[in-house]
Amino acid sequence: MEYVWVYILSASSFLFLLFLFKLQRSNKRNLPPSPPSLPIIGHLLLIKEPVHRTLQSLSDHYGPVLSLSFGSRSVVVVSSPVAVEECFTKNDIVLSNRPRMLSADIMLYSSTTIGSTLYGPHWRNLRRLTALEILSPHRLATSLAIRLEEVRLLAKSLYEEAAAMAGGGGFTRVEMRSRLQEMSFNIIMRMVSGKRYFGAIIDAGDEEVASRFKEVITEFFELSGTDPSDFLPVLRKVVDFKGRERRMVDVAKRSDVILQGMIDELRSRRKRSEGSREVESKTMIDSMLSGGYSDDIIKGHILSMLIAGTDTSATTIEWAMSLLVNHPNVMKKARAELDDAIGLDRLADETDIHKLPYLHNIINEALRLFPPAPLLLARESAEDCMVGGFNVPRGTIILVNAWAIQRDPKVWDDPTSFKPDRHEGVGGDHAYRLLPFGMGRRRCPGAGLANRVVSLALAMLIQCFKWEQVEEELVDLSEGMGLTMPKREPLEAMCKARECMIANVLAQL
Ligand code: HEM
Repeated sequence: MEYVWVYILSASSFLFLLFLFKLQRSNKRNLPPSPPSLPIIGHLLLIKEPVHRTLQSLSDHYGPVLSLSFGSRSVVVVSSPVAVEECFTKNDIVLSNRPRMLSADIMLYSSTTIGSTLYGPHWRNLRRLTALEILSPHRLATSLAIRLEEVRLLAKSLYEEAAAMAGGGGFTRVEMRSRLQEMSFNIIMRMVSGKRYFGAIIDAGDEEVASRFKEVITEFFELSGTDPSDFLPVLRKVVDFKGRERRMVDVAKRSDVILQGMIDELRSRRKRSEGSREVESKTMIDSMLSGGYSDDIIKGHILSMLIAGTDTSATTIEWAMSLLVNHPNVMKKARAELDDAIGLDRLADETDIHKLPYLHNIINEALRLFPPAPLLLARESAEDCMVGGFNVPRGTIILVNAWAIQRDPKVWDDPTSFKPDRHEGVGGDHAYRLLPFGMGRRRCPGAGLANRVVSLALAMLIQCFKWEQVEEELVDLSEGMGLTMPKREPLEAMCKARECMIANVLAQL
């Protein structure tokens, strides 16, 4: 028995001394304030889902520049506009790296994709390609027909279902998440490969590929992001957490086969049309084949566009619609704006978006309250730097808690209320306090496309249909877990076609 006490006492003294040593060391090194931590695992036990909420309460206690250890990795969390400005102005280059993650090493071609690769010539090259070729204003203009068609197909499916279920008259209950995901996925895939993979109209002969692709993408999303062994690498040799690493390898192989199939098909189509001067490159894969990129880089870029561009837009529309269903007055004002600017004879087009400032305010307000990437995407410091007067050593992971800043009562009046009018006349003057697309060199290059997709889809949903909550209950706005911050429950609402939109618009789709 005595023996046990000696053991307990010496272990506790050791931990206490270690704690004092670490405290003294961090004071000397002028690191940002930090809660007490445990040896080896650091603060990992403090980090509960949803992570942005946990980090917000830690920042409330320790300040807007906070340091943590996630196992062997040092992390600095930034949660104030002033500190964010410092990160993305004077420190922007130093903080433009991304930390290496196991999932990206295995599933994203050894972290060579635009979102996962280190800052440097390879990233710059992919970024230039994306900005000038794939998401340039010219390319976006030429792919407008794809987005219009996908939004029309969504309108058609809702109209047909509402008409069939309600016998043409009343409201019918519809589930929106799967429809919005399908629309966003089809938009990106058609821009990337020229093909439609989900929904009623799948391009002929592709049903089997489409269903395999659907499976792989679902698993891909599930396994993406951080993995326990990113922070405790010694454990990687000993345990494969819930078989995750094996599953990642399997998903990587299966997705590679499908993506290679897409490239080969486009390559042979291009060969067949050589000499016949058929249409110049149209899809993203075409552009990249013409640019001489390797197949692995092209496959990685297809995945990047899908991961970054589908769920983010679909989630934004779902949150915005949920907020609108809960705020019928805002919905009414948005509909009046649409009726005034567009009329009742046609759907809104992308050229109409600038005539819809109130719709834009609604989107900004939904992105403020529910940013799809609440912690943006992690950065890593390439050199020692200073943030908020503290040292940030080289190799530190930087997390920007956009969610916390966008709901901070010191930054926004009545921050948890949905008030689109607060954005009235502010234009782009929200810098560093509204940052759903990130900041600096690695800011989201898809913001222009996302704004178009979200605006078009929301405009159609408001213009063509009436919406009500199911059984007098407000739509539940709790957050769920996932790569992008999803609503915990998929949005279900009561939907009815607007009489005035049926004859000239909905019945013609
Ligand atoms: C509402 C929709 C979207 C939101 C909220 C969003 C948000 C973000 C955020 C927060 C980042 C990290 C920025 C940073 O580190 O500062 C990011 C990066 C990125 N986004 Fe988006 N995004 C959206 C839509 C899209 C779309 C439609 C595409 C393209 C099809 C796209 C492509 C990318 C890419 C490639 C990156 C990585 C950029 C890099 O590391 O250089 N995103 N996005």
